[in-house]
Amino acid sequence: MITSKELREKWIKFYESKGHVNIGAVSLIGDGTTGVMFNVAGMQPLMPYLLGKKHPQGTKLCNVQGCVRTVDIDSVGDATHFTFFEMMGNWSLGDYFKKEKTAWSFELLTKVFGFDKDKICATVFEGNDAVPRDDETANLLMELGVKKENIFFLDKSNNWWELEGTVGTPCGPDNEWFYPREGGADSSDFLTSNRYVEIGNDVYMQYEKLEGGKYKGLSSKNVDTGFGLDRLLLFLNGLDDGYKTDLFIDAVAYLEKVSGKNYDTDDQAKKAIRIIADHTRTSVMLIGDKNGIVPSNTGAGYILRRLLRRAIRYCRNLEIDSTEILNVAKIFIEKVYDTAYPLLVEKEDYILDEIVKEIKKFEATLAQGIKEFDKLLTGIQRKNAFMKEKDPNYVAETSLTGKQAFRLYDTFGFPLELTIELCAERGLTVDEVGFNEAFKAHQELSKAQAAAAKGGLTEQTDTTIKYHTATHVMLAGLRKMFGTGTEQKGSNITEERLRFDFNCDHKMTPEELAQLEKFVNDVIEQKIDVVREEMPYKTALEKGAYGVFNAESDAQIVSVYSIDGVDIQICGGPHVKNTGELGKFVIKKEESSSSGVRRIKAILK
Ligand code: ALA
Repeated sequence: MITSKELREKWIKFYESKGHVNIGAVSLIGDGTTGVMFNVAGMQPLMPYLLGKKHPQGTKLCNVQGCVRTVDIDSVGDATHFTFFEMMGNWSLGDYFKKEKTAWSFELLTKVFGFDKDKICATVFEGNDAVPRDDETANLLMELGVKKENIFFLDKSNNWWELEGTVGTPCGPDNEWFYPREGGADSSDFLTSNRYVEIGNDVYMQYEKLEGGKYKGLSSKNVDTGFGLDRLLLFLNGLDDGYKTDLFIDAVAYLEKVSGKNYDTDDQAKKAIRIIADHTRTSVMLIGDKNGIVPSNTGAGYILRRLLRRAIRYCRNLEIDSTEILNVAKIFIEKVYDTAYPLLVEKEDYILDEIVKEIKKFEATLAQGIKEFDKLLTGIQRKNAFMKEKDPNYVAETSLTGKQAFRLYDTFGFPLELTIELCAERGLTVDEVGFNEAFKAHQELSKAQAAAAKGGLTEQTDTTIKYHTATHVMLAGLRKMFGTGTEQKGSNITEERLRFDFNCDHKMTPEELAQLEKFVNDVIEQKIDVVREEMPYKTALEKGAYGVFNAESDAQIVSVYSIDGVDIQICGGPHVKNTGELGKFVIKKEESSSSGVRRIKAILK
């Protein structure tokens, strides 16, 4: 068993022994210069130096850097998605290059971590018009002892690293390291099996990303290495669930104890425990950061509020008091991150205080709402009793009206799900259709929503509208095939075709393309209605809606398009009324768009 503390130490010691200076970690909160809210990669704070600026601590650096990524917050609840994680990194700023880097990574893996060299697999860049094939790295790896058949040349979508959605940032081809979870390495299944786990990434950063997908060579040859601590920890200990590592094991055990529920055998409890543990950890990190933030209604503070309130809501699911979050926070502060993040210990009272304040705020709103809810119930009971007296055949009311449910939402911040839950406890139902109608009557689509929703559609004709709906169905198919972490990364629609970009870690196989085509055509054949509704952002998220849109607040009214049983997206539209209008869907091309992003061009016949 190797602990997280030991792993951090091993990383730093090893690179210090190779002449690197430990520069420590920077704040998790973005400083505003790169336009991102949080630090999302270890290289992010080093960008100016990777682009040529002189670093005060030299040309060989290393650290362990916390990162926060909330884009796939909805995936949290599974075994390997976290909103906070640590990246172990080291850098050459125009100093050493491929020869030293391959040798050190290899030494670390085989000598320090005890990986079997015959099982180590590596991927390198196959080259394109602008950048040659990376034979140099492949040869170095072979000289070190990596088997020739375990080295794979892959395209830009796999072996090129850059920060998505940015320009003026450093990037380049990379060498990724893989290891089989079980069994030996086998070149025949490397590309298709999920036995192989990526354990780290050495990026040879020699380019700057410019506007329009162009690249310019940099004057210095840099190395940017990132190995995920949470991932490596799991792997080194032979585990397949990130919540079983020492980073989470105590929090999980505590939540099991107070709830009396079993993490391993109760899937509902498992999900709730994972969400409470993950969101509490990230909240602790964000509040306790050197540039710490507090829950608020805008920007990073709003993300924090959402994380905390989601944790609070899941305490309800786990049937524990929401103040138990404080005890979970204490475990992270005092036991798990005390040495790596001593500032958390220093700021402990402050962190707990901010969490208490948010719990109180949210609980107060909920409590007021529950009072109101009870009043509504008493009203219904009185009416039923009164009517029954007058008319013995009177059928008692057993449903809350849409207007009543809407008022609970509008005035007391009750998500519809909560109202449904409370009603169910008392044998009542909620008129959900009426609830949605109440929205339409009360609210207007916000301007921001309308603007954001235009994305991807330049001109709205019957044909482009059809293509727009087709992208929704296609994305639903991709999410079904590749998981709900699959998102739209770009969309461009003309009269002739759709072009759609999405994150995907591999080139789609002909079978996968056929499967996707079939999925879309099946949905077309089923002639399903495309239904538009307006609702608060929060309700949309709770209904499982997703989209490229970021709301200004939970209460912001957004437009949601649903294709029953297929897809539900936050989107301004417009769309066809029924999927049967689309015709026949044919994929024309699947290609790489950028690192980790694939592009599909398709037509409707
Ligand atoms: N910057 C590289 C990554 O994030 C190392 O994977």
